Amino acid sequence: MEDYILELKDVVKTFGGVTALNGVHFQLKKGEIHALMGENGAGKSTFIKVITGVHQPDSGTMLLEGERVTFRNTQDSAKMGIAAIYQHVTAFPDLSVTENIFMGQEIKNKLGVYNWRLMTKRAKELISPLSSEINVSKPMSALSVAQQQLVEIAKALSRDARILIMDEPTASLTKHECEELYRIAEELRDNGVSIIFITHKFEDMYRLATRVTVFRDSQYIGAWDVDKISNQKLIAEMVGRELSQMYPEKTAQIGETVLSVNHLSKEGYFRDISFDVKKGEILALTGLVGAGRTEVVQSVFGIMKPDEGSITLEGKEIKINSPIDALAYGIGLLPEDRQIQGLVNELPIYENVSSASLKKFQKNSIIDVKAEMLNAIDLCQKIQLKAKDIAAPPSSLSGGNQQKVVFAKMLSCDLKVLIMDEPTKGIDVGAKNSIYEIMNELAASGYAIIMISSEMPEVLGMADRIVVMKSGRVTGEFDIKEATQEILLEASLMNAKKEEA
Ligand SMILES: Nc1ncnc2c1ncn2[C@@H]1O[C@H](COP(=O)(O)OP(=O)(O)OP(=O)(O)O)[C@@H](O)[C@H]1O
Ligand SMILES: [Mg+2]
Repeated sequence: MEDYILELKDVVKTFGGVTALNGVHFQLKKGEIHALMGENGAGKSTFIKVITGVHQPDSGTMLLEGERVTFRNTQDSAKMGIAAIYQHVTAFPDLSVTENIFMGQEIKNKLGVYNWRLMTKRAKELISPLSSEINVSKPMSALSVAQQQLVEIAKALSRDARILIMDEPTASLTKHECEELYRIAEELRDNGVSIIFITHKFEDMYRLATRVTVFRDSQYIGAWDVDKISNQKLIAEMVGRELSQMYPEKTAQIGETVLSVNHLSKEGYFRDISFDVKKGEILALTGLVGAGRTEVVQSVFGIMKPDEGSITLEGKEIKINSPIDALAYGIGLLPEDRQIQGLVNELPIYENVSSASLKKFQKNSIIDVKAEMLNAIDLCQKIQLKAKDIAAPPSSLSGGNQQKVVFAKMLSCDLKVLIMDEPTKGIDVGAKNSIYEIMNELAASGYAIIMISSEMPEVLGMADRIVVMKSGRVTGEFDIKEATQEILLEASLMNAKKEEA
């Protein structure tokens, strides 16, 4: 018999009427990295929370080194050496890195007083092999997402975790940060830690995992050795159908320039940015994360105020002081951080969908709720939203499906220009494909689309034209016909000297 450190059988978990897990299995070997994959809403995050004791399963068994265990809460699982880094950062942003690491297991002196000096020293020792750039006295909020994740890893290590679970840890990381995380995960594995790695990125799985388990629609589909299953078969198992072509053929006619950004500058963020986008065109803004792309589009959308430069729409200069102005001009933004910037959890899903386009449903200042709901149902179908009830709050949805609600909200507006900041981040492979189809349809109907993306295949598969940024400057502009991965990478790494010249 195989030696499993963790084994789950027939796990069922329901939330009210929603079955999130319907008899799933999982087997984790000692010292392996095991990928858990599946569509948005398949039940992956819920499964993790069952393992860590955040949720109690309705039925099923969990064996830890062959012994049956039940966890009432995360303290129980932590005691047994299980740690998790959740999909949405759960740290305390105002507390320091040290405080976050030792939260709940503070080191005290003989008199029972917290020994901050010792904790700070220990925190430094835990962090330094992971990163040399993290100051343990700084608040969590001063750290990048990647750094915050490293703190969570340090926290897990401080608790001697034998099993480490990471829920989409690479979703917001740069390529370089991903490489760092791979290195750390491999090192932990070599030291005997068993790792469950949830991801939508095939690259993560191929790089790290030896086994992969797939869930679909709350069900267990199967588990395979990574080197024994073809990519196509794996996708088919995840999506439940064959996906013939990831990037659909373009049908849009490219027309006149719709939006021009002229010499836009903002001290400390970006300098002298100019580009334009035409009717029917998909313009990709690429470069490494942190290149200033998000800040540029936030300035176009009126979230940030540029110091210099202008924006012209259909040949006329316009002043945008707020997102409301931008939307009134027909410029929409799908933000990168859809959890924070895109959703209101106090409102039902359908009201979130219509929240930026309420005028459409208003008759004499009264809202036609039926029309509003029908519109939401239509759009949610289009983007394959997995929701049992569109009157429920967005917090009842899986991470990826929450993002789709923000996408539907943008689709509900009548726009000329749609800006999408990392549109498929955290989106499963099947839904990605439908988002690409929708983008093509919007372009064909005359939309000008600006897509920020760090995913090279996505940029090369979807864009008509590509603008590359590095450290707040444009370092290259390419027609899709001349662009290759190498050319784009070179432009995104272009050295600082040349920029300053
Ligand atoms: N607290 C909750 N209340 C009600 N329903 C929930 C809750 N948490 C999860 N669900 C439902 O359980 C199902 C599985 O969600 P889960 O978050 O586990 O998916 P996931 O596989 O992690 O998806 P993603 O890739 O989008 O993160 C979804 O249908 C979701 O709406
Ligand atoms: Mg999830």
